[in-house]
Amino acid sequence: MSEEKLTIYKTKKIFTPTSSAKFTFVEREAKLNNHFVDALNTPGKQIVLYGHSGCGKTTLLTNKINQTYENSYTTRCMEGMTFENIVFDGFDQLSSLYTENSTTKSFKIAPELNVSYLDIKASLKLGDYTTQKTETNRHILPPQLTPQRLAKFYGASNSCWILEDFHKIKGDDKIKTSQLMKVFMDMSEEYEDLKIIALGAVGTARQVIEYDKEMNNRVAEIFIPYMKPNEIESIINTGEKLLNILFSKEVKSKIIKYSCGLPSICHQLCLNICFNKKIHETSKTKISINIEDLDKAISKLVEEKSDTLKSEFDKSIKVGNGVKINIPKIILENCLELNKDEFSHLEIFNQIKKYSITESNLTKSLSELCIPIRSEILIYDENSNLYRFNNLFLKAYAYLRLKEEITKNENAELENKNLKEASIIQKLLNIIENDIYNKLEDDEDYFIFEDI
Ligand SMILES: Nc1ncnc2c1ncn2[C@@H]1O[C@H](COP(=O)(O)OP(=O)(O)OP(=O)(O)O)[C@@H](O)[C@H]1O
Ligand SMILES: [Mg+2]
Repeated sequence: MSEEKLTIYKTKKIFTPTSSAKFTFVEREAKLNNHFVDALNTPGKQIVLYGHSGCGKTTLLTNKINQTYENSYTTRCMEGMTFENIVFDGFDQLSSLYTENSTTKSFKIAPELNVSYLDIKASLKLGDYTTQKTETNRHILPPQLTPQRLAKFYGASNSCWILEDFHKIKGDDKIKTSQLMKVFMDMSEEYEDLKIIALGAVGTARQVIEYDKEMNNRVAEIFIPYMKPNEIESIINTGEKLLNILFSKEVKSKIIKYSCGLPSICHQLCLNICFNKKIHETSKTKISINIEDLDKAISKLVEEKSDTLKSEFDKSIKVGNGVKINIPKIILENCLELNKDEFSHLEIFNQIKKYSITESNLTKSLSELCIPIRSEILIYDENSNLYRFNNLFLKAYAYLRLKEEITKNENAELENKNLKEASIIQKLLNIIENDIYNKLEDDEDYFIFEDI
């Protein structure tokens, strides 16, 4: 047997629950990948990547963008940000390129553009400058800083502009931001690689382009679905090879099930396992991982997640003070009562008949439950026309909260106090185990994934 030299990797670089995967990056299915890479390489084509939170939008982008662009800059859109804030941030990001000595860079930017960049920058008083980016008040942009000018700055430096969380921009500002995309599209005659890539939540792709029909076929809307079990498995397989560890078959299949198509859960469980076993870098000798190791990792994950679960669940059932019937809550209760993995609109409607909720109100609340304003607690699968819970942790938490509420019917404050108790974690784990362990023998069809 040939002795292979062991490369040592830091565990935190291999399992990356909160950042883009690099070493364990799994190529997404060919159809999706080609669609994206082709759009990336098509002059003038703008891109909207959308999908549920945590399904891999940023990671896919990070792993592909460097193959096409010398530079990419990300503007993170936040609630309340104005169009002006966005243009400003886009402008500011380029400052490392447009400086007096930017001629030392490998590519040349026309000197007049450099001058005009610096001119705009100089026209902004320092005080203004720092507040422009953070304050949500409407500021007036310097007259020279037009969208066209910004597009030129990006085009000339072969830079790509990424707008993360596009869906957080509201109203007029959203329309204006869409128009920005149109400007970039039109200016691609001059700079063929000029591109904006917008990343947004599921169900929001249309919002980017709805204001202008002309944009329709010049924007690639790409849906990033949940990962398939074999893709999640690839993350584990790559990680175990690079760290010289060995997950038992049972551990692997459970991680896949627990992940529910979310790579972040897979990374977090694997990282917890490694840290618990003090594996901080590639092991010199092979280390085996068994089911007890996984159990500890899950407990830790649930413990860490319990606050997030609480706020996600609260958000999903929040209604105004004057509202008499809490429709989202009734829907969730009844989805759980159906005791099925997936449920149809009709099944839910039949189930909630006694509450005299109109079908249109049901439809409205159901679609809200599938978007970030209600924590995406449910997922709608266009292909099967069925709904399911976003992930098992959230489902189990909802069960626990609603069940406690049903049986005790206590006021909200008391309830929350109960849930702070340590026992919640054990209860959650029990529910999750019951949901999952019965199904371990089931076939692959356990998950229904959206198609692209
Ligand atoms: N193709 C992949 N291969 C391996 N790991 C991945 C892949 N895609 C995503 N991940 C992992 O999944 C997690 C979530 O990915 P990412 O942040 O890219 O999702 P996202 O869709 O951008 O989420 P958000 O909507 O919250 O911005 C990260 O831990 C990342 O490392
Ligand atoms: Mg992201």
